[in-house]
Amino acid sequence: MGKIAIIYGSSTDNTASVAEKIAAKLSGKDVSVIDVAKLKSADDLKDYSGLILGTSTMGLGDLQDDWDGFVSQLKKADLSGKTVALFGLGDSASYSDTFVDGMGSLYAAVKDSGANLVGRVAASDYTFDASTAVEGDEFVGLALDEDNESDQTDSRIAAWVDQISASF
Ligand SMILES: Cc1cc2nc3c(=O)[nH]c(=O)nc-3n(C[C@H](O)[C@H](O)[C@H](O)COP(=O)(O)O)c2cc1C
Repeated sequence: MGKIAIIYGSSTDNTASVAEKIAAKLSGKDVSVIDVAKLKSADDLKDYSGLILGTSTMGLGDLQDDWDGFVSQLKKADLSGKTVALFGLGDSASYSDTFVDGMGSLYAAVKDSGANLVGRVAASDYTFDASTAVEGDEFVGLALDEDNESDQTDSRIAAWVDQISASF
């Protein structure tokens, strides 16, 4: 079984806490939870066959700041042979036009990397106006809203980990 890295960027710890919850659900697998601020180059990814990448959205539709240094490395990385899943946190009420856009930025960085991307979820389960993290009628990864729908977070994580687990 390959090693999995859950890599997150988080301003007020919501995404960090979700990263830990996802890791706990992947019990029995070899999982490391890593703050993206600690990563230097794409070389840091070479030991992992699975990557689960998470970010909150800050500013107006921006990737969480700690991703800024690493996302350019991610764009250049050859991720062929790796499995990648994405998760994003946002606020669908106050930022309904840019809901989880940060996850859209992560998707843009990895979609041509050669990785096997897994973990889309139905957008119809959420109420928002626009998101760059939507393709067709699905989010490109798990969307979570700790500001308005925190009561759904644990069940959304559980269902999503069930969905992706066999791919890792
Ligand atoms: C200044 C600020 C700007 C934000 N902008 C967005 C946004 O454009 N879109 C969105 O979906 N959420 C936005 N949010 C909501 C955060 O993404 C959300 O609160 C998230 O849970 C924070 O996670 P973190 O603590 O891991 O950074 C914003 C929050 C703040 C404080």
